[in-house]
Amino acid sequence: MLFSITIGNGYHIPRMFSRNIATLIKGTELANKIKSEVRNELINIRQTKPEFEPQFVAIAIGNNPASSIYLQRKQEAASYCGLKSKVIHFEDTISQKSLIDVINHTNKDPSIHGIIVQLPLPNHLCETTICNAVHPSKDVDGFTQTNLGKLMQKMSDSNMIPCTALAVKKIIESEGIETYGKTAVVIGRSHNVGLPIAIILGADKQKGGFDMTTVSCHRATPNETLASVCRNADIIVSAAGVPGLVDKTMVKPGACLIDVGLNRVKSETGKDIVRGDFNKNVSQVDCRLTPVPGGVGPCTVAFLMYNTLLAAKLQAGIMNQAE
Ligand code: GUN
Repeated sequence: MLFSITIGNGYHIPRMFSRNIATLIKGTELANKIKSEVRNELINIRQTKPEFEPQFVAIAIGNNPASSIYLQRKQEAASYCGLKSKVIHFEDTISQKSLIDVINHTNKDPSIHGIIVQLPLPNHLCETTICNAVHPSKDVDGFTQTNLGKLMQKMSDSNMIPCTALAVKKIIESEGIETYGKTAVVIGRSHNVGLPIAIILGADKQKGGFDMTTVSCHRATPNETLASVCRNADIIVSAAGVPGLVDKTMVKPGACLIDVGLNRVKSETGKDIVRGDFNKNVSQVDCRLTPVPGGVGPCTVAFLMYNTLLAAKLQAGIMNQAE
């Protein structure tokens, strides 16, 4: 867009740049709030139950640099919240049977309340089988069939909801976005991220959903279809992992854009940087936008802490699971 400045004599000087007018949704603020609530609740419980020591174990396979960074963030968050955490590393040659043996052993350890298997896995390991090996009561990622199935029926705060989907849910709630009867687009259909988000957006409010008409887009969606459904959407959640996929021509003014993409790319100067799925130019639209980094990512980590405390409370009988 071409803006102009009016000078004293009435002439207009064109300006060859556009203003950034989008409002940034600061995920770090919500993440800090969630982590301090977890920390305070844990302090309160431990006043009467000092033996209550929630702990999660992260199982890491191979040497994926991005996974190492995520695991470090999870451990830092756990330490802030007062939760115990440990990472168990395995070579990327570990067999599926050995990995399942480790998970079964951890399932039986009463000092461990949460188990995460850091993804992605090497190709010889079946992600679905490995994720389903975690006992549902310790599945703080919410990736088992049992917990994903429960999500179809109800999305209450005592269910183990996948952390990124829970982050998106709470961002929408904390922003006070009107959703009833509105339209949402979710780009990406992974079992762990895109599909659970689409379910929550489309579900009945009485079940904890948002009553939105939800369109699911993916790699088979033609570009023109993607552009037209996005242009019509009140909320766009992109979890495609394609940097800059959605640009300003695809965004309706007033929309809320939630960027779940975390793409490692090279900057113009050759530096490794992180980019989201939304093109930077969406900032020129009057919309709300989660930044990358600093948007959904920190909230996902914070909700892992929430789920770990939840799992430990359910296991200790401090709280009951919703039906
Ligand atoms: N890899 C990237 N994000 C996640 C996550 O939220 N959980 C697990 N287990 N692996 C991941």
